[in-house]
Amino acid sequence: MEHVTGLKCTICGKTYAPGEVEYVCPDHGNDGNLDVQYNYELIADRLQEDGLLDVRGIWRYKALLPIAYNAPTPPLLVGDTPLYRADNVAKEIGVGKVWIKDDGRNPTASLKDRASALLVAKAMAEGRKIVTTASTGNAAAALAGLAASVQMPTVIFVPASAPEAKITQLLVYGANVLLVDGTYDDAFELCLGATEKYGWYCRNTGYNPYTAEGKKTVSYEICEQLTGKRGLFRAPDTIIVSVGDGNIIAGVHKGLKDMYALGWIDRVPRLIGVQAEGSAALYNTWKAGLDPVEMQPIETNTIADSISAGLPRDRVKAMRAVTETGGIYLTVSDEEILAAIPKLAQATGVFAEPAAAATYAGLLKAAGEGVFAPDEEVVALITGNGLKDVAAAQKAVRQAPKVSPDLAEASPVINGIFGS
Ligand SMILES: Cc1ncc(COP(=O)(O)O)c(C=O)c1O
Repeated sequence: MEHVTGLKCTICGKTYAPGEVEYVCPDHGNDGNLDVQYNYELIADRLQEDGLLDVRGIWRYKALLPIAYNAPTPPLLVGDTPLYRADNVAKEIGVGKVWIKDDGRNPTASLKDRASALLVAKAMAEGRKIVTTASTGNAAAALAGLAASVQMPTVIFVPASAPEAKITQLLVYGANVLLVDGTYDDAFELCLGATEKYGWYCRNTGYNPYTAEGKKTVSYEICEQLTGKRGLFRAPDTIIVSVGDGNIIAGVHKGLKDMYALGWIDRVPRLIGVQAEGSAALYNTWKAGLDPVEMQPIETNTIADSISAGLPRDRVKAMRAVTETGGIYLTVSDEEILAAIPKLAQATGVFAEPAAAATYAGLLKAAGEGVFAPDEEVVALITGNGLKDVAAAQKAVRQAPKVSPDLAEASPVINGIFGS
């Protein structure tokens, strides 16, 4: 693992040797998120010799991940999700090109699989016996699924209010599920306490420094898919993504910075973070020009449970992802999020859960506010599948009419479909 040179505190910049600390900077407690540092020259030399792995999914980019080249990895296919060009959307909103990256196509149906795959690989390499996480649902499902693929036990803390499909996913994968009578933030703290008490390996987002490293693979894929040629990369102008804890946008940023450092792309695209109006801690801080380190928890209330975070755990990296790339934060209402579910599905065939539809709602809003140039190329990152939260999707569509199985009786209703 000589290509990993250290872990740098996002608050004070102090750098620790690999293995010296496990999760956070000891000087800054749970706020001291660490950023994995690499020796890009060494990585470039290795890639010069061996190239990227000729496999499907995230392990293609193993040379840029914080695990040994020969480390075993879980068998599920993670990543390699489709990037669809949506010319109809681009035309409708007056943007040069729009691409939809459908990360709901991962094995447990969200982008979180990218992080959990890496975390499970690390747990295997370190001989850890039990992995744990707190989650709004998707990170938990991802950890439960990836761990199940290598028969590793999990203990999962989710808010009791998490959507049923997400909780069911956990139980089906055989996770030890604890439904916390409280918010995601409460579940997070409880999981940290339990981690310390029982010595499990903790995947908590914005606490374990490696989650963003798994998620960064989505940026490699986007830029490679844009050229249509394996081994060649090109950056879009803008990537737009929904934000709760800020770990996904931090991962997207990290992947772009990696590629820039290696000379694979000639510039880092601007990043647009979309938050729900009812959970807009990062937006508020960005808008007010405040320091994310000083952020105080807020009450949250949004239908998009996956982006509901009163104190975004990766707030420092998430803020930098936007400010360092000349991007923006914006908010969308629950009504806009719900409306975006059928809009995206009907424009592209991609069914998103509320938190992922928030990206699309943000794309429409940003376009309406003149955020994009007419020739701009924008990638919208759809982070989770709509089947995760059918109850929310149902609120966004009308009921289907019931008809008799008799054609004559059903005909008036059928005729009504196209107004004939
Ligand atoms: C589907 C989906 N979209 C977006 C997000 C937001 O990611 P983050 O909390 O890292 O900002 C999440 C996180 O749970 C998610 O599950």
